[in-house]
Order: sequence, then C-alpha cells, then structure tokens
Amino acid sequence: MAIDRFGRNIHYLRISLTDHCNLRCIYCMPEDQTFRPNAELMQDDEIYLLTKLFASLGFDKIRLTGGEPTVRANIVDIVRGIAHTEGVRSVSLTTNGVLLHRLARPLAEAGLNRVNISIDTLNPEKFKRLTRWGKLEDVWDGILAAEQAGLTPIKLNAVVVRGYNEEDVVGLARLTVEHNWQMRFIEMMPFAGVTDVQTGQSVTAHEIKERIEDSLGDLEVANNGKLDGEARLFKLPNAKGDVGFISSVTQPFCSACTRARLTADGRLRLCLLREKEVDLLTPLRAGATLDDLRHLILDGVWDKPWGHGLAEGVIPLNRAMNEIGG
Ligand code: 5AD
Ligand code: SF4
Repeated sequence: MAIDRFGRNIHYLRISLTDHCNLRCIYCMPEDQTFRPNAELMQDDEIYLLTKLFASLGFDKIRLTGGEPTVRANIVDIVRGIAHTEGVRSVSLTTNGVLLHRLARPLAEAGLNRVNISIDTLNPEKFKRLTRWGKLEDVWDGILAAEQAGLTPIKLNAVVVRGYNEEDVVGLARLTVEHNWQMRFIEMMPFAGVTDVQTGQSVTAHEIKERIEDSLGDLEVANNGKLDGEARLFKLPNAKGDVGFISSVTQPFCSACTRARLTADGRLRLCLLREKEVDLLTPLRAGATLDDLRHLILDGVWDKPWGHGLAEGVIPLNRAMNEIGG
C-alpha cells in the first residue's frame, strides 16, 4: 500500500498518455503549443510495466488522460493491457470526445469502464471560440456513442471562463433533467503558459450554482452530501441526473486526496498543482530494477505535498495542463 506522511492512502493513478491534443482550449494551452517528441513519451511496454508496478503497490483505480488520450496510437490496445493488469479494478478515460464516436465501442470492449467528456457550452460558435478547433457536433455524437457503448455513468465536465461561457452553465445543467448524466462544473485553475486567462477570468463554483438556481430552481444536495470523486453533487427538481461542482480553487478537497499522476514523459507527479515530481522513466531506461522503481514510487508518495498553494498565490509553472492530465 502507498501511504503518505499525512496518512492518506494513495491508490488512484492518473496516467497521461500523451501531451498532444486535437483541440487548443484557451484555458489549457496556447494555440502555438509545441509538444514533446514521441521518443520522450512513455512507450507502450513502459506504460504496461509501470502500471503493473503501481498495481502491485495497491493502485487499483486508473484514469487515462492527456493531452487527449484518444490521439495516442494503439489507445485500444493500451486500455486492454491496463484493464487486464492484475490488481487494477477500474479503468476510466478523460477525453474531449472528438474521436469518441468511433472509439467508444472498441474501448468498452477492451475493458474501459467509464469516460469523462469535456463540454463547455451547447452553443456551437462559443464552443469553437473556447476550444479554438473543436466542432460541438462531434462531441455530442461522442457522448451518445459512449452512453450506447455502456461507458456509464456518463460524466461531463465544463471549465467555466468569464467572457466565454459563464451564461452557458444553465443550458448545460438543464441536460440533467432529461439525461441520467452527471454535469460537473470546474473552477478554472492557473497553470504555466495560460496564466493570464486563468487568473483573470475564473468563475467560482458559488457563482455558477447561483446562476443555475436563478434560472432552473433550487439545487438539492445529492449523494448524502458526500464528495463523488472531487465533485459536490446536487439535483435539479425532478431531474434524472446530477449537477456537480469541482471547486478546486475555493474549496479544495486535498485532505481527502487519494491520487497521484504519471506524466506522459514518465514522471510521478504527486499533486496537480505542485511542481514536485519523481522521474521514473529515466531510471527505468537506465536499467533500474523493479525494486528500485518501487522504492522511488513509495518514497515519492510518502512526500506527497499536503495540498496546493493557490490561496497563497503559488502557481505551478514547470508544466502546462496538457502534460499532467486534468
Ligand atoms: N483548469 C481546470 N480544468 C482544466 N482542464 C484543462 N485546463 C484546465 C484548467 N486550467 C480540464 C479539462 C478537462 C481535463 C482534461 O482538464 O476541461 O476536463
Ligand atoms: Fe486538449 Fe483537453 Fe487541453 Fe482542451 S483541455 S486543449 S481538449 S487537453
């Protein structure tokens, strides 16, 4: 078991499969973003080996992220390999949904359990403005394909940016009346590369909730007030699905954190919003034994930072979001 010095049991690993992406969301990366050469990324066999190691240390929940994980070659085989690793109990994927229309079924057949899909607005023009390159229709088809393939419960994510989509939260929340989906609103977090947008235009979960309630009625506490992952859940009157708020900035959930991240270039990142990392890929390529690597992981987890320092104005600058995975 991997325990940190605060007694948290860290058993949830988010693996970034690539820093590349087929969109350029304004809150995530600049339009002229450059990416790592493939040789610097973990290769398939390296991903399997590290997954096996983490699973042997009690990591039973895996989420694949990016960049955009579906642009990685062999994504279906990678999911199959991870899903069949001893000790892994669930595999999920965070995606922008653009390629999901054709990938949902093969991914489900390969052993994927669930997907989180990003959709920041239901307005095609605004969608284009936010993602720079995206077509809303593709994502919508992807969501329906995921539901049909049984990748449920479907969770949708919207990052809210002032001047772009703060009014669109109402239409997105309304989706939960007819659909048994979880629509989650995410407070924008500051990262390297795009910090201007992020510090100047963030919208609090409190404001988003008020906007939704003003138009659609009171939100009732759901899930007995317990966090679902990182989201606080509510229900609209007579709704099939839930509305969730991920208030990483105004109400951090660090004390209940169970996660660690593996960056696309094979670094163990202990906190999304702290720069501390442990390089696993370089020692692996230099011939480190499995036992050496196990120790690096356990020591890294032990030293996991307590939480982020956004309240004190500490912003991680060594990597942008697309390299860590959301
Ligand atoms: N703040 C919060 N969430 C972000 N994401 C990307 N950039 C940010 C940011 N600055 C989210 C995406 C997606 C996941 C990959 O990370 O919306 O849900
Ligand atoms: Fe790509 Fe996701 Fe970043 Fe948008 S938020 S640019 S979809 S990695």
